[in-house]
Amino acid sequence: MYPDYMTESLKKVVASRNKRFELAKSGKPVYPPMDADEREDVLNKFHPDFKKESRKKIRIGPNKGELLTTEVTEMLESHSRIKPELFDLSNPDYETDILIIGGGGAGCAAAIVAMQHGAKSIISTKLRMGDANSMMSQGGMQAAVKPQDSPTRHYLDAMGGGHFDNKPALVRALTEDGPNVVKWLEELGMIWDKDEEGSLQAMHGGGTSRKRMLSSRDYTGAIIMRTLMDEVRNNPDKITTLEFTPTVELIMDARGRAAGGILYNIETEEYFTVKAKATINATGGYGRLHIRGFDTTNHYGATGDGLVMSYRAGAKLMYMDSVQYHPTGSVFPEQIAGFLITEAIRGAGGQPLNKFGELFVFPREPRDVESAAIIRECVEADNGIATPSGRLGVWLDSPLIDMLQGDGYINRHFPAMHRQFIRYGIDIKEEPMLIYPSLHYQNGGVEINDKCESNIPGLYVAGEASGGVHGRNRLMGNSVLDYNVFGRRAGTYATEYAKKVKLGKLNIEHVNAYEEELKKARIKTDLIAPVLLPSYTPESVRKRQLTAHYEGTLR
Ligand code: FUM
Repeated sequence: MYPDYMTESLKKVVASRNKRFELAKSGKPVYPPMDADEREDVLNKFHPDFKKESRKKIRIGPNKGELLTTEVTEMLESHSRIKPELFDLSNPDYETDILIIGGGGAGCAAAIVAMQHGAKSIISTKLRMGDANSMMSQGGMQAAVKPQDSPTRHYLDAMGGGHFDNKPALVRALTEDGPNVVKWLEELGMIWDKDEEGSLQAMHGGGTSRKRMLSSRDYTGAIIMRTLMDEVRNNPDKITTLEFTPTVELIMDARGRAAGGILYNIETEEYFTVKAKATINATGGYGRLHIRGFDTTNHYGATGDGLVMSYRAGAKLMYMDSVQYHPTGSVFPEQIAGFLITEAIRGAGGQPLNKFGELFVFPREPRDVESAAIIRECVEADNGIATPSGRLGVWLDSPLIDMLQGDGYINRHFPAMHRQFIRYGIDIKEEPMLIYPSLHYQNGGVEINDKCESNIPGLYVAGEASGGVHGRNRLMGNSVLDYNVFGRRAGTYATEYAKKVKLGKLNIEHVNAYEEELKKARIKTDLIAPVLLPSYTPESVRKRQLTAHYEGTLR
């Protein structure tokens, strides 16, 4: 239920709806899409990445001297959780072929494929298996499976969406493996949405030139993860899962190759050592760093742990100056601030409206442009609606969807979204949602090649922890495909490598060397990373609100 003071604005949304419906039904653009100059202008002025204080030079490590996202630089310039001298690596607690760090989509896919190729693995995961962003994806997975589509078209769309900054070999791998991933998942038990003839149902997403978004209602990530986790759990003799036991540092061998990790059981507070012939970093993204004070769509565990561990060990990062803000995060009710409202809502006809009930942007601009336009409408034009705690938002007119697509569409296609809001007395078939951009995705990460190899031999990286696949702006549905494609590739190539490698003596000397670098650069910090569990004490929330990007603009 919306507070009374929002009623006037809601009436204006209702008053303008019929006219907007007629225009949308006519097939004409409901609002003119921006040209290239307009896009550049709105990005430069309003996208959070382009604010001066958004980037900070990193003073140590492989990317020394580069401007990275401020919160990332601060996280990387941190102390380790461990004292290397306390660990005896001559007699590790576990030995395996592959240590997989992270129990989300990429980690599970890697473990399954490694098993199929004859390797045993240990999955170390901070929370439970599947507690990950992979589980939370709603709108779907892109893959070129329709006759009018092709991996080449998919490739061009992904490159365009990423402003042509993507690494071509990675995009090629992503788009060419897509159809096989669809089949592989279906064979494992995935239930895709199908039409009446039994063919895969495909929809548009922002930036897709052909319909290629495959879904399982708006539970796509949850159904994929159920499928992958079943396979992992059904093979305990090949895949060992260690829950509530994150990896906190990598172990190296005498020749600088990744050789496992130091694990920490967060329940018993014990440390374990794992020796592995190959290591896969699949720790996902960093949304819970709340970059620029933004709320996030991300899982509680998304604290960029793999980034810092890999960086300390010498892994080169790519595009760590680029953050994706999803245009439509929920801002009311505030219990679910940041919660993802799938782009598919706009794909189906939902429109962003200001406090006067006016459409102010083409609803399917690329994500970065759409987000910047919403911020401009709230911060510069002052046409947003303030929540009781002072967040700003604009309406996302969902009732238009059933008008355009026919009664029952919302119930059939967005059951999870409907249920999420009805719990708070908001029926999205009848009332719009209040939205604002929400920190969604880490565009950058550890630099890899198409075999998921990093610059550290034996260290493979897959999924959101890697960088380069999506350039500086990922398209909807390409992250679900990414964690499957590169999870599978990491499993394959790490197994090949593990079959050949002969490890030397183990060490964690890089942790001491990094500490020395911190000292030499005179960096004083009390930050310890991996962060593992983000803090939500009243102080940290207050600090976050004070550093919010719209500080001083609230009226
Ligand atoms: O809007 C969405 O459903 C999000 C999907 C994605 O980020 O890929």
